[in-house]
Amino acid sequence: MTSDGTFGEHGSSGAPWNAADTLTDHDRLARGGGVARWEPLGMSVTPALDLRGIDKSFGSVRVLHDVAFRAYPGEVTALVGDNGAGKTTLVRCIGGVHPPDAGEYRFEGNPVRVCGPRDAARLGIEIVHQDLALCENLDIVQNLFLGRERHRGLALDEDTMEEMARTALSGLSVRTIGSVRQRISTLSGGQRQTVAIARAVLWDSKVVVLDEPAAALGVAQTQQVLETVRRLADRGLAVVLVSHNMNDVFAVSDRISVLYLGRMVAQVRTADVTHRQVVELITAGTGEALGQRR
Ligand SMILES: Nc1ncnc2c1ncn2[C@@H]1O[C@H](COP(=O)(O)OP(=O)(O)OP(=O)(O)O)[C@@H](O)[C@H]1O
Ligand SMILES: [Mg+2]
Repeated sequence: MTSDGTFGEHGSSGAPWNAADTLTDHDRLARGGGVARWEPLGMSVTPALDLRGIDKSFGSVRVLHDVAFRAYPGEVTALVGDNGAGKTTLVRCIGGVHPPDAGEYRFEGNPVRVCGPRDAARLGIEIVHQDLALCENLDIVQNLFLGRERHRGLALDEDTMEEMARTALSGLSVRTIGSVRQRISTLSGGQRQTVAIARAVLWDSKVVVLDEPAAALGVAQTQQVLETVRRLADRGLAVVLVSHNMNDVFAVSDRISVLYLGRMVAQVRTADVTHRQVVELITAGTGEALGQRR
């Protein structure tokens, strides 16, 4: 085990990874990655997100301890862990809502400072927060463009915004929403989730982080959201999916990162682990079956 609680062959401080630091073309082909999948051409892939040595405290409570986390373009990285493990806190660090106290933040290989949500948005990092933060009394278009409205002269350019909203939703293959002028309060949970995701992808994003998008959804709506998640990755985005549901995680993710009591205890390829091993990592912070000890 490395000093930061992860399991890395390259376990120097802040740069742990348990398999390969970069994913090569060969790796992807070896995984039999599917015909329609986004594939890099002839080079190793730089992580879209690469956080190292992240510490975060709230007052005297240390929530994240020397956390390393990576997410790659064209992949879904599941971020799992028990209640209170620190997933949302890490998501907020990524999105600039709670800038880390310490650590290194690299975006597409370059060190960056993400001190607020605007910094993250400028880089193309969009977060769909656990509580969604949609405005119930506004319609879909107003929610999608909140704070980033399009203008024509002094007036709002409603036609362009409506057209962009329709394009964003149809790009996510959303068929169940009748009108982009529907109020959020009239939408189902799954439809709201889709609007939140559409808002995240409307801005030419490179990274989309979804904090428990399917937590309150039924079977069919969950399926729809998971398909959307997969589609985003297949379009080349780096997608981070926070979830408690192992079936969802195994259905859509390429990699799994496990937080245990604020420490990253494993970052593994989904194809290399079983449900049981991941549950063991989540609940005990150890993966004996993987030959890993905390
Ligand atoms: N703003 C805050 N002030 C103080 N403590 C906080 C704050 N936000 C989170 N915490 C604490 O940090 C810890 C991790 O919380 P976090 O929300 O990141 O967990 P989580 O893994 O997302 O849990 P869940 O699965 O329940 O959503 C918890 O103990 C929580 O009480
Ligand atoms: Mg949370």
